[in-house]
Amino acid sequence: MPTLELLRPDHAEAVLAFERANRAYFARSIPDRGDAYFAEFPARHAALLAEQAEGTCRFHVIRGADGELVGRVNLVDLADGSAELGYRVAESATGRGVARTAVAEVCRLAATAYGLTALTAVTTVDNLASRAVLAHNGFRFRYEFLFGDRPALSYRRSLADLRPSA
Ligand SMILES: CC(C)(COP(=O)(O)OP(=O)(O)OC[C@H]1O[C@@H](n2cnc3c(N)ncnc32)[C@H](O)[C@@H]1OP(=O)(O)O)[C@@H](O)C(=O)NCCC(=O)NCCS
Repeated sequence: MPTLELLRPDHAEAVLAFERANRAYFARSIPDRGDAYFAEFPARHAALLAEQAEGTCRFHVIRGADGELVGRVNLVDLADGSAELGYRVAESATGRGVARTAVAEVCRLAATAYGLTALTAVTTVDNLASRAVLAHNGFRFRYEFLFGDRPALSYRRSLADLRPSA
C-alpha cells in the first residue's frame, strides 16, 4: 500500500535519483524537465519547499511497501479552495495501482488537511493510464484543448463527498 509524505528537505537526494532514473520514461508522456532542472536541482528543491511554506502548493513523495520512493503527487496553485493535481510514478512501479491509490489519498488530504473543495487536472488524450487514474478517482471531463501541439483534456473533481461535514 503506497503512502504519501509531504515534501521535506531530506527528500532531495531520493527525489533527484527518482527523476534521473525515470527521465526518459516520463519524457515519453509528459514534457521533459530539461537539463537545467537536473543541474540546478538543490535550488529547485529549495524553491518548492519555499512555495510549500507559503501555502500555495503541497508536494508529496509516494513510498512503496518497502519504503522506496516510487512516485510523486503534487497539488499546485492552491487558491480559492481549488488546486491543480499532478503525479508521476516510477517505471518500475507502474501498473500496480500506485497512482490510483496515491491520487485517492491526496484527494482525501486535500478535502480534510488542506481544506480544499475541488481539484483540477489535465492530461493528454493519448495518456490512457493517466486518464484511467483520473476516472477511477471521480474526476469529470470538462473540455478538450491543445497542450502545445497535443490534444489534451481538462478534468475537475469536487471534494464535497470527502469533506468532514459530508
Ligand atoms: C500515468 C501514471 C502516473 C500511471 O501510474 P500507475 O501507478 O501505473 O497507475 P495505476 O496502476 O494506478 O493505474 C493505471 C491505470 O491505467 C490503465 N492503463 C495503463 N496503460 C494503459 C493503456 N495503454 N491503455 C488503457 N489503460 C491503461 C491500467 O490498466 C490502470 O487502470 P485499471 O486500474 O483500470 O487497471 C504513470 O504511468 C506515469 O507516471 N507516467 C508518466 C508521467 C505521467 O504521464 N503523469 C501523468 C501526467 S497527467
